[in-house]
Amino acid sequence: MRILARYLTSASDPARFPAPSLPEVAFLGRSNVGKSSVINSLAGSKLARTSSTPGRTRSINFFELRRAGQPKPELMFVDLPGYGYAKVSREISDQWASFVDPYLQQRSNLALCLALVDSNIPPQASDRQLIDFLDSTRRSYVIVATKSDRLSGNELQRALQALRHEYGGTGAPIVPFSARTGAGQDDLWKHILGACEKHQPAAIPRLG
Ligand code: GTP
Ligand code: MG
Repeated sequence: MRILARYLTSASDPARFPAPSLPEVAFLGRSNVGKSSVINSLAGSKLARTSSTPGRTRSINFFELRRAGQPKPELMFVDLPGYGYAKVSREISDQWASFVDPYLQQRSNLALCLALVDSNIPPQASDRQLIDFLDSTRRSYVIVATKSDRLSGNELQRALQALRHEYGGTGAPIVPFSARTGAGQDDLWKHILGACEKHQPAAIPRLG
């Protein structure tokens, strides 16, 4: 599937968010978990800035996407600042309170949240907080286990088992993903298009 995507705008103040229109998919997770990389991988182009320095994404970045062959933009990807990294945690938690939180609670066109967790490390307390927060907002979300290429087949199975043990009770799907190899792309796109279609039935035609 070929995707045409462009950066739309960046905002750190709810008053400057673009007017809600297309269904949106929000990318959430700790600093450095791979949010911007997953966005670039799904879009098939370098849209979002990635970095090995945690806390690179400081404001909310909005990207507009459509599948090749579709006449109009169909959905938005929203890259949110990371949280929970010791060095930047205070600042980040202030940011969460001031604009990420209201975004997740109030954004009317938010169709799906992607809660990214690193498949290479055990479930973290800060990830649990995010999941609990998403449950409290009643948003639908998918758990994305990032950087799966760094694990062997057996290690990945064990990591997924640990995630199912921790988050299975939420009923959220868990999708292993690698921005490096593209593993998990089709599965994640299905969740995204399914949620966007449900959110605005007229905007997203059914897949093939
Ligand atoms: P912040 O914007 O700081 O919150 O980080 P982020 O969550 O957007 O992470 P980003 O996409 O910038 O990636 C962080 C680091 O992880 C970079 O060095 C990436 O190259 C690396 N990385 C991301 N995804 C993958 C992956 O699928 N596989 C591997 N091996 N490395 C990855
Ligand atoms: Mg980022």
